[in-house]
Amino acid sequence: MKRHDRLPGFRDFFPDPVPHPDLARMAERLHLFSSWRKVVTRYGFREYDGPPLETLELYKAKSGAEIVHQLYHFEDKGSREVALRAEMTPTLARMIAAHARNYKKPIKWFSIPQLFRYERQQKGRLREHFQLNADILGEGDPTADAELIALCIDVLRALGLTQEDFVIRLSSRHAWESFFKQRQKDTTKEYLFYQIIDKLERELPENSAQKLAEMGIDYEEVRAFIEQAEPTEELQEIIDQLQARGLKDFVRVDYGVIRGLAYYTGVVFEAFDRQGTHRAIAGGGRYNHLIELISGGKVDMPALGFGMGDVVLGDMLREKNLLPPAKPSIDAFVQYTDPDQRMEVISLVHQLRESGRRVEWGLSPSGANRQWKAAAEMGATCFLSLVQEGLWEVKHLQTKESHQVASEHVSVTLDRLEKDTPSKA
Ligand code: HAM
Repeated sequence: MKRHDRLPGFRDFFPDPVPHPDLARMAERLHLFSSWRKVVTRYGFREYDGPPLETLELYKAKSGAEIVHQLYHFEDKGSREVALRAEMTPTLARMIAAHARNYKKPIKWFSIPQLFRYERQQKGRLREHFQLNADILGEGDPTADAELIALCIDVLRALGLTQEDFVIRLSSRHAWESFFKQRQKDTTKEYLFYQIIDKLERELPENSAQKLAEMGIDYEEVRAFIEQAEPTEELQEIIDQLQARGLKDFVRVDYGVIRGLAYYTGVVFEAFDRQGTHRAIAGGGRYNHLIELISGGKVDMPALGFGMGDVVLGDMLREKNLLPPAKPSIDAFVQYTDPDQRMEVISLVHQLRESGRRVEWGLSPSGANRQWKAAAEMGATCFLSLVQEGLWEVKHLQTKESHQVASEHVSVTLDRLEKDTPSKA
């Protein structure tokens, strides 16, 4: 690695026009974030945030072995064991444990944190990613599960994805819990069992079969249970409520999903592309005991939520041409070719910015041709050049219509020309 290289698994986000197609576009990130915010606020969720650095302890006890293994952690200068946040749920649980009594239940909160996991790099998995988190706290009824799954579906639909593009695989740890307890009395092995189920699709069948046999469970019985896909009463209720919203065909009962994280307690789900060529788009479920665990038994509150990453989703939207085209735009570019014009240029630029317009100029004088090109790259609607003291030429770059007007009339002329812009009409 050279001294100025990016760390592997990390991204730089460039403004358009992006110098190389492999580089991340800031415009895509902003598009995702604004679409996420629009839909979650429509569902009544309120935004929160927490620190990007937490105590190592917060994840050790609560997230499960896989995430702890992937933590970026170190000792800070005050000899504290700290970790970059790898997921948002422990932070949320900590915040809720401390201040839940100040909020009316159910609490519906969302956040868009950047998360860090030292993962093996592969398609759809990086070492940092942004993740929409939406969680409902203080409501134990399956109505909340249905509401959250409907939100997950609507977030994806708002980005242009349809029933043909993705599916929510709906499952339940309750179903697996009763399957397990009918076959194995030693409940200390329960989470280990869940981890084997979680890896089923990524592991060779003979390896899974052997691990299951070691805890007295038959692989074929596990497969049959998954294939039957018989919904529990709770899952059926959720499906019925999704049907009432017209969203039933976006979900499928699939016990192949169980979720890797340790804290899930009941309904769990993951969103996948229908073709099955990508990793999960989103995942979540119920975690009814986490707040109690984090508050040391002081606050006992049912909870559920999901996380949706920007990486797989971005890949899918790019493949399907659903991301906004590279189209930078400013309202006006003010030409500056002669140092003697500096004060008049500055004065006009400032006056137009004060009127709320996005205005750019070159800061140092340069040739007119170069400035035309800069204005075009920035997507300027109008180009302004000084003809003589107090007199400006205002030219619309698309329609080529131009007018010579006094400084005090530049603003109204821009208003009129902008109104006539074909794409804005
Ligand atoms: P998770 O399944 O670990 O869940 O992550 C949720 C989503 O974040 C994944 O489906 C994926 O889209 C994205 N993601 C995870 N790791 C990476 C990575 N290394 N690179 C790119 N994308 C990634 C959680 O984190 C739970 N805390 C979600 C939750 C919220 N559960 C309840 N509330």
